[in-house]
Amino acid sequence: MVASQNRWSSEVGAEILAQGGNAVDAAVATGFSLAVTLPRAGNIGGGGFMLVHDAASGEDVAIDFREMAPVRATRDMYLDENGDVDPTRSKFGHLAAGVPGTVAGLWHAHQKYGKLPWAQVVEPAMRQARDGIPVSYDMALLLTRNKTRYCANEATCGYFYKPGGVPYAPNDTLVQSDLAHTLELIAEQGVDAFYKGEIAELIIAEMERGGGLIDAASLAAYKPVERDVVRGTYRGYDIVSMPPPSSGGVHIVQMLNVLERFPVAQLGYGSADGLHLLAEAMRLAYADRSQHLADPDYYDVPVAWLTSKEYAQQLAATIDMEQAKRSEDVAPGVEPRPEGIDTTHYSVIDADGNVALVNYTINFSFGSGVAVPGAGFVLNNEMDDFVAKPGVANAFGLMGGEANAVAAGKRPLSSMSPIMVFKDGDLRLASGSPGGSVIITSVLQLIVNVIDHDMNLAEATLAPRMHHQWYPDRIIIESGFSPDTVRLLEAKGHTVMQTPNKMGSLQTVGYRDGTFLGASDTRRPNAAAIAPGNSQTQ
Ligand code: GLY
Repeated sequence: MVASQNRWSSEVGAEILAQGGNAVDAAVATGFSLAVTLPRAGNIGGGGFMLVHDAASGEDVAIDFREMAPVRATRDMYLDENGDVDPTRSKFGHLAAGVPGTVAGLWHAHQKYGKLPWAQVVEPAMRQARDGIPVSYDMALLLTRNKTRYCANEATCGYFYKPGGVPYAPNDTLVQSDLAHTLELIAEQGVDAFYKGEIAELIIAEMERGGGLIDAASLAAYKPVERDVVRGTYRGYDIVSMPPPSSGGVHIVQMLNVLERFPVAQLGYGSADGLHLLAEAMRLAYADRSQHLADPDYYDVPVAWLTSKEYAQQLAATIDMEQAKRSEDVAPGVEPRPEGIDTTHYSVIDADGNVALVNYTINFSFGSGVAVPGAGFVLNNEMDDFVAKPGVANAFGLMGGEANAVAAGKRPLSSMSPIMVFKDGDLRLASGSPGGSVIITSVLQLIVNVIDHDMNLAEATLAPRMHHQWYPDRIIIESGFSPDTVRLLEAKGHTVMQTPNKMGSLQTVGYRDGTFLGASDTRRPNAAAIAPGNSQTQ
């Protein structure tokens, strides 16, 4: 079963499973395919995380292929001459791009955990880029709306618009010949094509042309890292998720530990008390995120303390069920020790029960907006996930401190939260989402909906969601909550804002009573959960 944001990429993953590939083979193939079918987020110019569960041994591993700051990056590189944050430099253009990790990450996962030949898993994406894919309604709309930004870069405009900058209409065919060639090089030469060979040369040339920092030394220094997963428990279920430099796993476990101390099922889905409790748990977690989370190779992240039941007990004791806190009264916790919008996720489970989850990103839709001429892909703007200046929020309104400041070779803090939930050793669900700061809370609510509110995967995915991130001090809700509930929340002291946007897009696989399950969020179009043998192309 493969659940991804794009039907044609889910079909590629299912095709690889049908050819005898395992979950990692299918995940690698789906990842390359999404770079073709979902260029707003699927990528080879960005980075991300993969979680792998090996059913035979029961072992879990986290593969970190997050982008890294180029070797010439410096702490204050996004400040202007007055010491203020330049509002654009970390978000748009060449300086916004971190060293991409996707190709290295997928290569590492395949070399260590895949079964089929590398070229075989890259081939479907190459075929899709060469033969073309139908332009989706979503892609056509995005390209029409953002033409000024994307066409500011000649290569991006050339790759994703018709001659003269005319946007594609839905169902037009988008052929990506340069990307097909790039994928062919990757299929034939492996990882070195990207970091040392012809593709590296094209990236370096574009960086020199546009004043970016990614150079040969930065590309050669890029390394994916295997890390120990973050573990927690919730009401008898085992939770396995991504460790730092993701903040997602740590804070989901932290919030579940807090929620475990309250009768969440009894409060009921969508009740004012239930939403209040979620908001208060989120507020506390995001306050901690601002201070304690960062690249663990550069900062000693107190994972054990943040995910401990004892700390959760202290936090839970501060929650007043009748009255909202004010965020200005909430500070990040102090560890008791001597010192001191666009991302995508997909999930795969194979017939043996192996699981591979990938949450990867170029940050905004079409990332930095800078395409690599000749190579056919856009580069990320992940450098905006660093803190440009302590106390100044990033594009997602997330606050941060010194721990997440820019430094050469460092990985920016992420919210991407691939997660697996087990019951007595058997996978119950595996999921993840795009959405920047709402990733963590979307995944949290999926778990609460399944475990506390006894929803099936589809119900739990589609149920309206809410979000609180400490600052701004307000609850954001999707449509679908009762006005009575909103009034009760306001009476507790919350500011509640209904957003016209949808939060996250959960792509979930699962297993229950001998049946493989899949649920693709309908909040964003074109997503599909597909099992081998059920794709339209077979
Ligand atoms: N760029 C979004 C994230 O990594 O959280």
